[in-house]
Amino acid sequence: MEFCLQADGYEVRVAPGASGALSRFLEVTPDISSVFILTDSVTRSLCLPLLLRSVPALSNAVVLEVAPGEATKTLEEVRSLCVELNASGADRQSLLICLGGGMVGDLGGFTASVFLRGIRFVQLPTTLLAMVDASVGGKTGVDLDHHKNLIGTFSRPEVVFIDTDFLKSLPLRQLRSGLAEIIKHSIIGNVPPFEELPVSGDLAAVDWLPYVISSVSYKNEIVSMDFTDRHQRKLLNFGHTVGHALEARSNAGGAYPLLHGEAVALGMQVELALSARLAGLPVSVANRMINYLRSVYGELAPPVYDEALVPFLLSDKKNSGGKIRCVLLGAEGNPIIDAEVGLEDVRIAIDSLAAVSSLI
Ligand SMILES: NC(=O)c1ccc[n+]([C@@H]2O[C@H](COP(=O)([O-])OP(=O)(O)OC[C@H]3O[C@@H](n4cnc5c(N)ncnc54)[C@H](O)[C@@H]3O)[C@@H](O)[C@H]2O)c1
Ligand SMILES: [Zn+2]
Repeated sequence: MEFCLQADGYEVRVAPGASGALSRFLEVTPDISSVFILTDSVTRSLCLPLLLRSVPALSNAVVLEVAPGEATKTLEEVRSLCVELNASGADRQSLLICLGGGMVGDLGGFTASVFLRGIRFVQLPTTLLAMVDASVGGKTGVDLDHHKNLIGTFSRPEVVFIDTDFLKSLPLRQLRSGLAEIIKHSIIGNVPPFEELPVSGDLAAVDWLPYVISSVSYKNEIVSMDFTDRHQRKLLNFGHTVGHALEARSNAGGAYPLLHGEAVALGMQVELALSARLAGLPVSVANRMINYLRSVYGELAPPVYDEALVPFLLSDKKNSGGKIRCVLLGAEGNPIIDAEVGLEDVRIAIDSLAAVSSLI
């Protein structure tokens, strides 16, 4: 079964084995002078061999490799990649294929969007998180001094091939991280309905294809209403205002660096608690969702509010005028964008998570 979606200016194709369709894409796309494949060292060893087997035409492509992990998503790395592209003769007709998770997709998409004022790129996501979220929507970017995605562009890929076969090698912790964005889509858009989310515990046995299709469709629907993130697209930030702050703090020297989805899962718990306290979300609904999140992410240490978190909360690019803005739920299926929240509210919400039954 192949699912094909027309996004805003590019196609998204989802299927086990979908990357094989790159062969046809390369045949029919005019004037490609050279092809580069950006990988990290993990996707180079685990995913590139699969890709080369299904798309033999790529055997002449130049493979670029970066170190895995969020620490690579920097301007310094963009510079090195531009130097490599230039040294290897890349020109305006070159194509960059981003083969990896959201880190490779963001870094590669950003590099492609600025090298020679923009060369074409293709997203080939290999993590669940990149499949259900990062590869679709045209946001690219890098971090600045641990502040997430502070520098970036809106830039459309030529095409996105979502090949769920790549998930076979993905570790459980990474699957669980990607699930957070699926849960987010369920909470804000009821896609999929909350009751249809995977049961915790046996994530390795889940058939992810229907979840990938529903998440990509939902995200695309929202993005096509508001590509540049001024209105409806902000809905997709649910869980991210607090989540990004927790992620950035943990990456800036915490004992246990959180993965993006893990931080979002914790951020959603805090923002559900905020929704119950400030936006009228029934406590029973908030509790049901928080309890589900805990059943999946329970082993993560609960978020802690302290002064070290404050700069990260305030630096989130969604905030303006020193106020924290986040998405809250007014009722089930009724998210509110740009809800203004004070730091003290965040502290109370985080503290209240210690006793979910007394959320307000
Ligand atoms: N642009 C967007 O709209 C958007 C949306 C959400 C997240 N993001 C960004 O995405 C990034 C997170 O993405 P991620 O969670 O995919 O992280 P990631 O790209 O760092 O990948 C996680 C780990 O999985 C490994 N990996 C990748 N594919 C694999 C496979 N098939 N088998 C085994 N290992 C594999 C990687 O090497 C890495 O070590 C963050 O930087 C976040 O800001 C961007
Ligand atoms: Zn996210």
